[in-house]
Amino acid sequence: MCTLSMAAFMLSGISCQSAKKSDQVSSKGLIAVETPQRPVGQKDVLQLTTPAMKVVRVGFIGLGMRGPAAVKRFTYLDGVEVKALCDLDMSRAEKAQKILTDAKLPEATLYGGSEDAWKKLCERDDIDLVYIATDWLHHEPMMIYAMEHGKNVVCEVPSVLNMDEIWNVINTAERTQLHCMMLENCVYDFFELTTLNMAQKGVFGEVLHAEGSYIHCLEPYWDSYANDWRLKYNTDHRGDVYATHGMGPACQLLDIHRGDKMNFLTSMDTKVAGIPAFVKKDRGVDLKDFQNGDMTTTMIRTEKGKTILIQHDVANPRPYSRMYSLTGTKGYASKYPTPGYAIEGSQLKDDDVKKYDDLSGHSFVPEAVQKILMEKYRSPIMTLELEAKAKEVGGHGGMDFIMDYRLIYCLQNGLPLDMDVYDMAEWCSVAPLSALSIENNSNAVEVPDFTRGAWDRIHGFRHAFVK
Ligand SMILES: NC(=O)c1ccc[n+]([C@@H]2O[C@H](COP(=O)([O-])OP(=O)(O)OC[C@H]3O[C@@H](n4cnc5c(N)ncnc54)[C@H](O)[C@@H]3O)[C@@H](O)[C@H]2O)c1
Repeated sequence: MCTLSMAAFMLSGISCQSAKKSDQVSSKGLIAVETPQRPVGQKDVLQLTTPAMKVVRVGFIGLGMRGPAAVKRFTYLDGVEVKALCDLDMSRAEKAQKILTDAKLPEATLYGGSEDAWKKLCERDDIDLVYIATDWLHHEPMMIYAMEHGKNVVCEVPSVLNMDEIWNVINTAERTQLHCMMLENCVYDFFELTTLNMAQKGVFGEVLHAEGSYIHCLEPYWDSYANDWRLKYNTDHRGDVYATHGMGPACQLLDIHRGDKMNFLTSMDTKVAGIPAFVKKDRGVDLKDFQNGDMTTTMIRTEKGKTILIQHDVANPRPYSRMYSLTGTKGYASKYPTPGYAIEGSQLKDDDVKKYDDLSGHSFVPEAVQKILMEKYRSPIMTLELEAKAKEVGGHGGMDFIMDYRLIYCLQNGLPLDMDVYDMAEWCSVAPLSALSIENNSNAVEVPDFTRGAWDRIHGFRHAFVK
């Protein structure tokens, strides 16, 4: 069996259990994960643009806990029309319709009541963008079908679950030359955006290491997911199944596939404890053979000698944390539990902070300096007007609105989106690849170059703007 089909066999499949042992070793001594050849006649979608859309016509699929909040946010955006709403449960589509009528907007066409009703939405010829917020298992088929029917597509996290799905979306995006973006909202939080700008301006020297996580005890939520999809997925899979909130900000800081690339990862999980105990108490049910370890820790090394540390823990009583931090040669940033910067004074040339020249980087800068820095390095996308609107509309403190705003701004102006299908692939690949590492005594696993050779063509991650 070739490495690809072995890896695909091991990692694919909605109902498959976690990855299995592998004896496929690369020339570098890593567990091999093959990169399939780019199909003939297909080209990459780096910096992809589509013709500017004066009005972006949208169809939403998946209107459970997350979807309706997106519909609501779209009522605050100019130059969009919500044409269609779909959920398996028609009453959820009807509830979302009320969001539009309450905002005095035209009604959308509703779809639902059957497993495949969403296909009709994708087949319409008056939709530019399909916005997906269903459970994880539906993401890939919906994205593929939408692109095959000429639609740009955006999808909630994690958008793809295994290597088969990853290559399917990449190949479909490349073949159709349409946008395929993951809705990773955590790259739009205020502290992360400011810190990214500081990093890009060299305030931290060379950024060497970034950290991120999803630490969020889901006990209050397990019972709320439609058909119990989230618990079922965690029951069947080891590995970091929800890595993208940590990966997104870390990979933007490190310019992944924009001058650097991830080479390999290694992962380790604790034993299973918290979730089966909770389910026994909550539902009186014994979860047999639960797979997902309480805490999963993954380390990634890049071509340019940088590292990323990612953690996942949805089982234990810990304060919420995305563990966002970076270490550079001249400074350090950390968001949890309290945002702060530790920077060598010589890096802070701004007049206002001259008096703090003696800052050593051994401790966090005083609050007054942090305030000056947050203003001075305000992200170019974060205008005062957008910040005020984002705070008014809300959605995780405003970052969800900034994500939607940037998506629509880029589509309306024919600009590359902030995140492309390779970001989706890289950030989601941690799930299957960490599982593969864990099942092989934490041995290092190769991370494919999802751009298939173009990882250093773009020099640094930047948001696009109208010139
Ligand atoms: N980015 C974030 O901060 C964030 C926060 C919460 C959830 N999410 C993500 O959003 C997604 C949805 O999560 P949720 O909490 O809303 O789950 P949910 O279970 O509340 O909602 C999923 C919805 O999808 C619908 N659905 C299922 N099959 C369908 C089909 N065939 N056709 C149409 N609709 C179908 C269900 O009926 C349900 O209404 C997940 O990917 C989750 O990880 C992201």
